[in-house]
Amino acid sequence: MAAISFQSVSKAYPSPKSSKSSERPGTFLALDAVSLDIQEGEFFGLLGPNGAGKTTMISVLAGLTRATSGRVSVLGHDVQADFAAARRALGVVPQELVFDPFFNVRELLRIQSGYFGVKNNGAWIDELLESLGLADKANANMRQLSGGMKRRVLVAQALVHKPPVIVLDEPTAGVDVELRQTLWQFIAKLNREGHTVLLTTHYLEEAEALCGRIAMLKTGRIVALDKTSDLLKAASSNVLRFKLDAEMPKALADKARITGRIVQFPANDALEIERYLAAVREAGLVAQDIEIRKADLEDVFLDVMTQNKDSVHGVGAVA
Ligand SMILES: Nc1ncnc2c1ncn2[C@@H]1O[C@H](COP(=O)(O)OP(=O)(O)O)[C@@H](O)[C@H]1O
Ligand SMILES: [Mg+2]
Repeated sequence: MAAISFQSVSKAYPSPKSSKSSERPGTFLALDAVSLDIQEGEFFGLLGPNGAGKTTMISVLAGLTRATSGRVSVLGHDVQADFAAARRALGVVPQELVFDPFFNVRELLRIQSGYFGVKNNGAWIDELLESLGLADKANANMRQLSGGMKRRVLVAQALVHKPPVIVLDEPTAGVDVELRQTLWQFIAKLNREGHTVLLTTHYLEEAEALCGRIAMLKTGRIVALDKTSDLLKAASSNVLRFKLDAEMPKALADKARITGRIVQFPANDALEIERYLAAVREAGLVAQDIEIRKADLEDVFLDVMTQNKDSVHGVGAVA
């Protein structure tokens, strides 16, 4: 049985442009016929630029937003028809930090346990506090905590009922390295113990290190879906990178990824690298600080995001 299943899920929001006119507001699709099955025990990554629809997918999954069409289920429980069972199977760490400032950390976790009908949860709450480096903050008031500490509490809160399916929406956005490591150690341990994990992140190296499979989302559509290792294999194996103080001829620039002075060319082998360097020289330009590195998930991601949908790797698997 799939831990998480999206079947042709669309979500329409009123279009910001037309909502100002006196006519019936138009809509745009934040999710456009998304289909995705995540199996029990997977560590799954959902990647995509801002506004791609990642949080919308998670909101629909958690029953916070209704899909306009399609079906979503958690361990076979429909998120609408069988809301309570679906919600109980899920632990969701939301993107935004929202808290009741009047409670201390332990109180908050007790209240959350009660909300899920879990009694005598003290031992597990202690383990959560310990594993997330919160033990010495157990009696601290929420408003006394730093942003990073609040983020840890949010994770503990999501896990208080030992949900089989754990969903984290950009849990490491803007948090320090130490928390990232603590968090991933703990989440990886839960995954080894059988919990399914769905993670959205901007940190591609995190996804590369943790996730067995990855989906890439772009303007509400899945544009790539594959094993992480296969996505990496599909990338050109090397990247030629150098600095340039002038513009390249268009034919050459079209093949490069350019960020300010930094120019990068995906290249399979030494011959291709030589050809690019020769072309730069022939254009009368001087490449500085030349480097050759292995392609990583970020390269795959940028390739996918700039390609058109039809030629995208792995997408046949979802169609
Ligand atoms: N409540 C809402 N009303 C209208 N538009 C929304 C709402 N929530 C999200 N959107 C829009 O839906 C799109 C997807 O947003 P979101 O799911 O938050 O993306 P992501 O999490 O990938 O950054 C964006 O264009 C966003 O502006
Ligand atoms: Mg988001």
